[in-house]
Amino acid sequence: MSAETPRFLKACRGETVDRAPVWMMRQAGRYLDEYRAVREKAGSFLDLCRTPDLCVEVTMQPIRRFAFDASIVFSDIMIPADAMGAEVSFVPGKGPVIGNPIRDAAGVDALISPEPEAACPYVFETIRLLRIELGETPLIGFVAAPWTLYCYMVEGGGSKNYEEAMTMLHGNPELAQRLLEKIVEYGAKHAIAEIKAGAQVLQLFDTWAVLLSHADYLRFALPAVNEVFRRVRAAVGPDVPFIYFAKGTSGVLPYLNQVECDVLSIDWQLDIARARQELGDDVVLQGNLDPLALLAGPKPTAEHTQRILDAAGGQKHVMNLGHGILPKTPIASVEALCETVRNWKA
Ligand code: CP3
Repeated sequence: MSAETPRFLKACRGETVDRAPVWMMRQAGRYLDEYRAVREKAGSFLDLCRTPDLCVEVTMQPIRRFAFDASIVFSDIMIPADAMGAEVSFVPGKGPVIGNPIRDAAGVDALISPEPEAACPYVFETIRLLRIELGETPLIGFVAAPWTLYCYMVEGGGSKNYEEAMTMLHGNPELAQRLLEKIVEYGAKHAIAEIKAGAQVLQLFDTWAVLLSHADYLRFALPAVNEVFRRVRAAVGPDVPFIYFAKGTSGVLPYLNQVECDVLSIDWQLDIARARQELGDDVVLQGNLDPLALLAGPKPTAEHTQRILDAAGGQKHVMNLGHGILPKTPIASVEALCETVRNWKA
C-alpha cells in the first residue's frame, strides 16, 4: 500500500497533475517572524546553518504555514565554498564575505575537495532528520551552479559588477576554467551526498548567469552546469529530477534545452508562454512570478499568479517565483499566491 506520488515529483517528471505544485525559492527566511526568532536564538547565520535541529525547524516553518508542495533544505550555497577552504562569513546587511578571495593560481591550487560528510556533516544530518519530519512532502537539495560560486569565491562577496570575477574570466580564462573545474568537482560530490542522505530532487542556483555575454555563458557556465548534472546522474540514477534556476538567461533562451535537467526555473523577465514556445512542449518550467509583485500586496500577487498559471496551462509547470522571496514580503501575499494556485481551473 503506497501513497500517491506527490504532485511536485510528478510535475518534475512531466507527468499529469491535478494542479500545478507550488513552492517558493528562499521560502525559509526573514519574511517569517518565526524564522527571525530562531535566527536570533542561533547567533550567527552560519551557526544556524551548522545546527541540524534548528535547520529542520526553519525548513518546516513555511511548510506548516503554507502547506507548500515541496520543501528545500535549509543551508546556503556558500557552505560548499567553506568546505573547499574559502573563509566564509556573513555580514548582516551585506551577505556573504570571503576572507581569502581567489586571485591567482596559488589560490586555485590551495582549494581542497574533502568528503562532504566529513566537511559539513550538519547538512546531511539535517536532510536525514527532515525526511522523517516531512512525511509525504518532497525535499529538495541544492548547490550553486559553478559559475555563481566562482563569482563569490573570486570577488570575495556580493558586488554590483563582479569586476574581479570578470577580470579573471577575460584575462586568464585558463585559470578561470581550472577554478570552475574544482568547483564542479566538490559541488557534484556535495550534491550526491545530499541525495544519498535523502534529498529527492536537486536544484542548481545560477544567480550570476546574468553577468555573462551569450558567448561566455555557452563557453563557461553551461558546460560546468552540465558536468555537475552528469556526475550526479551517473551516481544517483535516472529517478531524481534536476532543476536548473538561472537569472538573466532570456538572451540564451534557445540554448536552455541543452541544459541536462528535467525542470528549467526561469526568472520573471522571461515570458513563460514564450519560453514554452521556444523550448517545446516537453520541457517542465518552474517560475516565474516577480518577487517584487508580492511587496504590493495580495491583490496584485493574485493577479500576476493567475496570469502565469493561465499562460502555463496547468501542466508541466511548477509555480514558483522568478527569484528568491524578499524579506519585506507580507504573509498575505504568500497566502494569495497559494490560494490562487489551489483555486485555478483550466
Ligand atoms: O528556503 C530556502 O531557500 C533556504 C535555503 C537557502 C538560503 N540561501 C538561506 C539563506 C537557499 C536555497 C539559499 C540560496 C542562495 N544563497 C543563493 C541562490 C539564490 C538566490 O537568492 O540568488 C545565493 C546567491 C546565496 C548567497 C547568500 N546567502 C546571499 C547573497 C545572502 C545575503 C542576502 C540575503 O538574502 O540576506 C545569503 C544569506 C541567507 N541565505 C539568508 C537565508 C535565509 C539570510 C540570512 C539571515 O538570516 O541573516
